[in-house]
Amino acid sequence: MKRRTVLKVFGWGAGGAVALGGGGFGAYYLSAKQDTVGKLAFDTALSVPPLAPSQRGASGAQVFTLGIQPGETRFKDGKATRTWGVNGTYLGPTIRARRGERVEFAVRNGLDEATSLHWHGMHLPAMMDGGPHQTISAGGTWEPWWTIDQPAATLWYHPHLHGSTADHTYRGLAGLFILDDEQTEALNLPSEYGVDDIPMIVQDRAFDGDQQFVQREPLAGSLGVIGDEILVNGTIGPYVDVTTRLVRLRLLNGSNARLYHFGFSDDRRFSLIATDGGLLAAPWETDRLYLSPGERAEIVVAFEPGERVEMRAYPAEHGGVLGRLDGFHDRFDICQFRSAASLSNDTTVPAVLGVAPDLVDEVVAQERSFVLASNQINGRPMAMDRIDFGVREGTVEVWEVTNDNGYLHNFHVHDVQFQVLTVDGGEPDPSLRGWKDTVLLVQGRRYRLALRFRDHTDPNRPYMYHCHLLAHEDDGMMGQFVVLGEGEQVGNPPSRHQHQ
Ligand code: C2O
Ligand code: CU
Ligand code: CU
Repeated sequence: MKRRTVLKVFGWGAGGAVALGGGGFGAYYLSAKQDTVGKLAFDTALSVPPLAPSQRGASGAQVFTLGIQPGETRFKDGKATRTWGVNGTYLGPTIRARRGERVEFAVRNGLDEATSLHWHGMHLPAMMDGGPHQTISAGGTWEPWWTIDQPAATLWYHPHLHGSTADHTYRGLAGLFILDDEQTEALNLPSEYGVDDIPMIVQDRAFDGDQQFVQREPLAGSLGVIGDEILVNGTIGPYVDVTTRLVRLRLLNGSNARLYHFGFSDDRRFSLIATDGGLLAAPWETDRLYLSPGERAEIVVAFEPGERVEMRAYPAEHGGVLGRLDGFHDRFDICQFRSAASLSNDTTVPAVLGVAPDLVDEVVAQERSFVLASNQINGRPMAMDRIDFGVREGTVEVWEVTNDNGYLHNFHVHDVQFQVLTVDGGEPDPSLRGWKDTVLLVQGRRYRLALRFRDHTDPNRPYMYHCHLLAHEDDGMMGQFVVLGEGEQVGNPPSRHQHQ
């Protein structure tokens, strides 16, 4: 049976009617719109995830030890919330590594069920990717390693166990993975972690009367769980003390499903400097920015001494047919910035940042098309034992992707950062002109993506491509591809018993 069709919204049975009480659908619809603007106290300092400690391994590698564990977290006064975290009770430390460096991990699963940890945005061998085939059993330890082989960027990590990704991520398993390189360090951008270079993992959560996370899907809506409270790094209604004129914010939409349309309370402009895969060729000034689940952006904001300004999420025009039932009419205060009476002024936003994506003139070895609808891709739900296709090492492909059913979807590809060539045949929005691994699919529009598959061939171990709305992905809006060396054929994924 296909879930989350429009019929579900209007076709509930007696159970739904009882749950709605006397008000019926009209009251439910009216109450579905959230607006917290002006209502938050901003009385808690933003929590900043600690940097993950590491040791030097014999090979010179940076060695990290991560423990996935259950716990309790106090988000508000009163009762604590049962959560999961990495080296803590909610979210995980920020991992940091340099281009060219080898990293090694021991990831211990201290839960009493299996999970996995996927390095979202990372170029690495499929068996190190932490996708649904790299299960970490309860009590088990997984030890991936690879060499960082891509430009500086803000990546992240989260579980990817097929069917449980939404649940495990919602409970709190996620963290940032920041990559550094020399070119970026030479730019004099704000870069003091937690001071003028601030990570912001933005998530929505719903709490029940017992202050526990709500996990059940709402009666109406196409997204799975969406929340009515916004957490940044696990803090509700945070403030940030600003001490420098320029502040760089590393934004991650770490929500399961919610689309954010970010801006500031005074509509000030800010510079977008980086997208998923790293720096843009040049900064782009704007006053609004969309981020769909899984996407990252680095922005630089300028502050005046002694001012207060809030970052907000504004209503989204790019939602889907369900409008307010999927949260597209909502407005949230997210975080307050309070600047000191005097601000230091040592950093800049250079006019030239990184290298623009360069795939537009490449020879295209293969074109493919992907239609996302009914929580399937090209009419097929994800199957763990089916590799959908193989791509050839050393080639460039163009993938044409469309959202064909009116609900919110996006598209994420493992292994590579891609270039958005065109949207409906035209030039993409400036926010899409850098390297991307996840792109919002506005319904009905055609996105042409160029992808270069460089290396890491393995005919039997697939990478994933999928919608990053986690309930959709769990439901089957995902597929698998392998990178093939010369003469190789698509093989078989490891069976359930030999996952690694
Ligand atoms: Cu962020 Cu396949 O995932
Ligand atoms: Cu990913
Ligand atoms: Cu989707």
